[in-house]
Amino acid sequence: SLLTFVVVFIITADYIKNRRPVGFPPGPGALPVVGNIFTWDQSRPHEKLMELARTYGDVYSLRFGQKWIVVLNGFEALKEGLVTKGDSMVDRPQLPLQDEIAHGLGVIFSNGNIWKQQRRFTLSTLKYLGFGKKSLEPVILDEFRHCAQEFRGYKGKPVNPHLIINNTVSNIICHLVFGHRFEYGDERFIKLMLLFDKALEIESSIWSQLYNSFPLLMRLLPGPHQTLKQIWNDVKTFIKEELNQHKKNWDPAECRDYIDCYLQEIQTNKEQEYNTFDEENLIMCVLDLFVAGSETTSNTLRWAFLYMAKYPEIQEKVQAEIDRVIGQSEQPSMEDRVNLPYTDAVIHEVLRMGNIAPLALPHSTNKEVQLGGYTIPTGVLIIPNLASVLFDKKEWGTPLTFNPGHFLNEEGKFAKKAAFIPFSAGKRLCLGENLARMELFLFFTSFMKHFTFSMPAGVKAVMDYHAGITLAPKPYEICINSLVLTPLPSVFKLSV
Ligand code: HEM
Repeated sequence: SLLTFVVVFIITADYIKNRRPVGFPPGPGALPVVGNIFTWDQSRPHEKLMELARTYGDVYSLRFGQKWIVVLNGFEALKEGLVTKGDSMVDRPQLPLQDEIAHGLGVIFSNGNIWKQQRRFTLSTLKYLGFGKKSLEPVILDEFRHCAQEFRGYKGKPVNPHLIINNTVSNIICHLVFGHRFEYGDERFIKLMLLFDKALEIESSIWSQLYNSFPLLMRLLPGPHQTLKQIWNDVKTFIKEELNQHKKNWDPAECRDYIDCYLQEIQTNKEQEYNTFDEENLIMCVLDLFVAGSETTSNTLRWAFLYMAKYPEIQEKVQAEIDRVIGQSEQPSMEDRVNLPYTDAVIHEVLRMGNIAPLALPHSTNKEVQLGGYTIPTGVLIIPNLASVLFDKKEWGTPLTFNPGHFLNEEGKFAKKAAFIPFSAGKRLCLGENLARMELFLFFTSFMKHFTFSMPAGVKAVMDYHAGITLAPKPYEICINSLVLTPLPSVFKLSV
């Protein structure tokens, strides 16, 4: 019949068009048209991809709709892909959903000249604003003081720290880009945080997978993906309002924050050939800093609280080390890190076990490349499975156990590990790694100095994750008790 003919035709055409290219990495058999899209397990994506590596090897392929994907697993394959042959995979894929929002601007989803210029400028500006004369240390400690006041208000009663910590961490980005923080109850700010949460939830859902695999069809169908653009537009409007405020009282001689520095960069580059500095890129860069810099650090801190409540003996050891090295009255500073090897090891172990960005962000080949003995053509989407390295049996003594000893040598000194790659590696390495490390160190040591975290009576810590854009601990309540002897840091005079 006609129907049989149509079905046979589609299957044959699909088979001919979508055959695995010669020399391509192996992988599971694919369904006609949709390919391996149902192999994706949004509730535990990296674990599913690690399972497939056991059957198909460290470098294997999948097909989502018409799009070929190569998954890299294990230290060797990731090093070869991200570092040794990193230039061939430095690009981001053109994903329909992300394209419609970012339009190829900013840092996270841009490529080529735009990416190079925006990344270089953003890196050096963050360095200038955070690690030079204008150190972020007092800003972070001041924000801790606000957060601590909120926590103290609960008097040790169970509280879900999610919103407070989100506000705390986002305020550091606000300080960097806008030059000011928001009070925790500020309605505009709360609205902004909720918009981010909503947008990231939709972006990590099956709807965005479907949109990126079948954009023409999905544009016509209803679903949450239809509201995503509006949400991001609302966020951009918020940033534009801050930008307009900056333009009103802008002094070209002074860079108070990222927006000021960017306005200056627009002026300086006006006459340059291949100039990519303009207000649209500015807005997208600011949005990128929020997207990449808030949830990530906030999730990591929430994992840290949970691990400390689960392992009180580790928490006590951290507190004892901090007491010994920093003392009762002093505030922690980055200089203390070398003298706090155990605390540093605990932070590293939280980042490893927390595994908050298990699949990094997707990369894409910009030329044909040989990898793991296979040939990968141009335009293939690459997934670096960072989790496969962070939990690799060959790299860690007890990969599935929370064990700060992974980062300590026999003398109890801090020991670096090449397989510690939660920030990825190569040219697309997390742009905020230094900032994140500074925040995590100062916030964590401050929390440990002033509070003890424990589970509510009769409640066991659940170490399970919720997989969104990042892996977050499942919502939990925790008791945050003040340590009696340590007064809060005094209010800092901020020199912006
Ligand atoms: C990219 C992890 C915090 C800004 C990334 C990537 C990872 C990552 C895995 C993808 C790298 C790749 O594509 O190979 C983390 C973790 C964080 C953290 C674990 C905290 C615990 C931050 C912070 C900022 C930031 C605080 C900013 C202020 C960025 C940006 C990119 C990025 C802009 C895109 C870089 C590019 O495409 O060139 N991060 N990140 N991140 N991160 Fe982070």
